[in-house]
Amino acid sequence: MRLSRLEGLFHDTAGLRRLVVRDDPVVYRVEEPGSHERGAALGLAETTISPGAVAGEFFMTRGHMHELPRDEVYVGLAGAGVVLLYDGVRTAAHEIEPGIAVHIPAGCAHRTVNVGDAPLRFLAVYHRDSGANYEWVQERGMGARVVVGDGEPYRVVPDADGAAG
Ligand code: F6R
Ligand code: MN
Repeated sequence: MRLSRLEGLFHDTAGLRRLVVRDDPVVYRVEEPGSHERGAALGLAETTISPGAVAGEFFMTRGHMHELPRDEVYVGLAGAGVVLLYDGVRTAAHEIEPGIAVHIPAGCAHRTVNVGDAPLRFLAVYHRDSGANYEWVQERGMGARVVVGDGEPYRVVPDADGAAG
């Protein structure tokens, strides 16, 4: 997923466009190792998010709400990140790192953010019939943004203006 496809999700659209003009970096990739077995109810997906930021807002996934009420589990493999969960009212932020599992309840939109200076890799274990609604997050945002910290590794700040900056 190149940065140009994430326009409207970062707070600073002008800052995003400056980076896109320079080299339109790959923000993240998703690979699905052997998850297409016939009849399997569970799928596996591995996401790798590059280190980086747009005007101080860390690189992140688009984020989505499952179309069906399906939960999901993420397991950290490498790097340091934050998983944002948003039910439309409240936002929760969970740290993810190697060996740490994060449970995503049904009915929570989810987005993962790389807050480190190395690639963040995690495995998602999901119900294959979950579906993904990206418009839900585009319209509402996640209720919070994860930005470069002031003396801390990162800060989670309330998002007053929703998805678009
Ligand atoms: C599947 C899941 C992950 C994400 C992946 C990319 O339900 O949550 O595999 O799909 O981390 O994020 P999105 O799909 O938001 O671009
Ligand atoms: Mn999901």
